[in-house]
Amino acid sequence: MKQYDYLIVGSGLFGSTLAYRAQQIGKRCLVIDKRSHIGGNVYCESIEGINVHKYGAHIFHTSNKEVWNFVNSIVEFNRYTNSPVANYKGQLYNLPFNMNTFYQMWGVKTPEEAEGKLEEQRAEAKARMNGREPQNLEEQAQLLIGKDIYETLIKGYTEKQWGRECTELPAFIIKRLPVRMVFDNNYFNDKYQGIPVGGYNKLIEGLLDGTEVRLNTDFFSLGDWRDIAEKLVYTGPLDEYFNYKLGRLQYRTVSFETTVEDTANYQGNAVVNYTEREIPYTRVIEHKHFEMFGQEVYDCQKTVISKEYSTEWKPGMEPYYPVNDERNNNLAEQYRQLAAKERNVIFGGRLAEYKYYDMAPIIEHALTVQL
Ligand code: FDA
Repeated sequence: MKQYDYLIVGSGLFGSTLAYRAQQIGKRCLVIDKRSHIGGNVYCESIEGINVHKYGAHIFHTSNKEVWNFVNSIVEFNRYTNSPVANYKGQLYNLPFNMNTFYQMWGVKTPEEAEGKLEEQRAEAKARMNGREPQNLEEQAQLLIGKDIYETLIKGYTEKQWGRECTELPAFIIKRLPVRMVFDNNYFNDKYQGIPVGGYNKLIEGLLDGTEVRLNTDFFSLGDWRDIAEKLVYTGPLDEYFNYKLGRLQYRTVSFETTVEDTANYQGNAVVNYTEREIPYTRVIEHKHFEMFGQEVYDCQKTVISKEYSTEWKPGMEPYYPVNDERNNNLAEQYRQLAAKERNVIFGGRLAEYKYYDMAPIIEHALTVQL
């Protein structure tokens, strides 16, 4: 008999949830991670007593009651509700686009007035295009929402994200731009959202409680896994598993500039988007607002902020978002066909499936995959 039933590569949410399930049914698991900490991209680093989302802001949201009950059975969640604010040339606007935004933009006070203004703006955009199909993202966005909101809240932000002019980006990137005719700044439409009380590390620690974990351990330096385990759960990059033999998959990435500020409350909100092109970062995250409310904000006298910059990805950088174009989709599909032929290996998670996943769908997948 081999030493382990499962060797699990990666202690992110997928690997940790699978380890939890396997352990519950009495399987012997070893979780390895090449990083020096558990949790993958949801890991938080404590700075000045504040949980800092080291790999980007993470807000848990779902309408799936089973997933919500599952995570709450591991750790309690707080009442954080994501309601980002946009800063355009010093003016502030609420997001997502809702009655507050329309009031701030045009002074309109009723849904009827806001609808009228939106219709007027859309009609002007249509007239400018003279009946032809939108040729690029700029034209598409203006048809959907009009010039004012496009220029103030979409143009600069999108250009920073993609590193290209909106007139050079394809129209299909924006299919819909939802608007809300109510005064509601809650970014998500999901039934449940929040942040684990005590931070994401508590969630991961709860999932891995009782499981053997080895950090700073790269799967590719281990030798043949079949010598130690019956089955493998692999959550690392799909192309790396096959030694890039068909070519490298590409990603988009984000870089963070994190600083400690000598004030208790820097921007009054967890997320502020900077929507003008001239400011090089896209967002500023003030981490304490994910977990501290009311007086707690002031009881902690310092604050930690992260400025986010969209950065072109090169091998060696953090692979964050899969690139959804023909080349990468085709290549990923070829790798998936190879993966399907691997015996006793489960490929799961955002890297091994080369797919953008929010946290809740990752957990849903890990709860349902056949062990
Ligand atoms: P994850 O990347 O977390 O874990 C994989 C692990 O495998 C890593 O720890 C890695 O070190 C390890 N590994 C890889 N190769 C290895 C090897 N060879 N040997 C050993 N270990 C290896 N979702 C959401 O619901 N709300 C949100 O607000 C956000 N925000 C957000 C911001 C940003 C910038 C990104 C990129 C993503 C989000 N997400 C999100 C998505 C969320 O991060 C994602 O769903 C989960 O982290 C995915 O968990 P995984 O376990 O799949 O991967």
